[in-house]
Amino acid sequence: MGFKGLARRGHDIGEASIIGPWNRFKEAAERGESPDCIALHELREHQQLDSSEKEESHRGVSTTTRSLRAFFLMLARYPAIQERAHAEVDAVTGGTRLPSFEDRPKLPYVNALCKEVLRWRMVAPSGIPHASMEDDVYDGYFIPKGSMIIANAWAMLHNPAVYPAPETFNPERHLTADGDAAFGFGKRICPGRFIAESVIFITAAMVLSTFSVGRPKGVSEEACIDGNVNVGHIIAAMAEKLILSAASNQ
Ligand code: HEM
Repeated sequence: MGFKGLARRGHDIGEASIIGPWNRFKEAAERGESPDCIALHELREHQQLDSSEKEESHRGVSTTTRSLRAFFLMLARYPAIQERAHAEVDAVTGGTRLPSFEDRPKLPYVNALCKEVLRWRMVAPSGIPHASMEDDVYDGYFIPKGSMIIANAWAMLHNPAVYPAPETFNPERHLTADGDAAFGFGKRICPGRFIAESVIFITAAMVLSTFSVGRPKGVSEEACIDGNVNVGHIIAAMAEKLILSAASNQ
């Protein structure tokens, strides 16, 4: 079998192992025969999503878009940071053109801001389960070969010893440190991290160059920050509404 056939076969097996059980579960739920379990909860939540959100979750891009939601919330919550990042972009573009990937090395604060978004409201706090390949001992605990290991990446990126005042959004900490644990670890580290970081960077830079993001009148800072946090395997900070106005440049 050629590599395309192999890839097609792998795709079909993957689809059958994920979509098949899910479809059988949905049919059982429609007949009222499913147990009251986490899958039923997910199904109800999915039915409430609008079509763009369904598209987002189908295509597996939700991690990146959820990081961008946190970016927008952060802008509304921290106007001084928005102003500083906007000024950095304008200094590079002269306020007369959109920023590009070529500008990236000249935008250290915007890069740091993107890393801080990934740390501050990391979207996959427990990543994907790993397994130990050998017997091991960690901190006095014996871990037999084949154990399921779930890393608490949220705790790592909110460890006050490494990130003082971890709840505060502060890009400056990434001018020296980095927030890569947001993408997991070792062999199974997220292979999409380069594209994700690029998408977040270019979106952030373009938004900063063209818009000013604020919160609507009457919406408190706190409500704006995590007005509605959707918690699960992947989390999302959401705002009910934000105000986008044209940035005050040329
Ligand atoms: C902000 C955006 C993203 C975040 C925070 C993120 C985070 C993660 C994390 C934490 C893992 C688990 C890693 C581990 O087990 O240690 C993972 C796995 C994975 N991610 Fe991402 N991801 C993002 C975007 C993307 C994108 C854009 C793609 C595809 C283009 C992608 C494809 C994958 C794949 C295929 C895996 C499974 C890797 C494996 O099991 O070997 N991710 N991601």
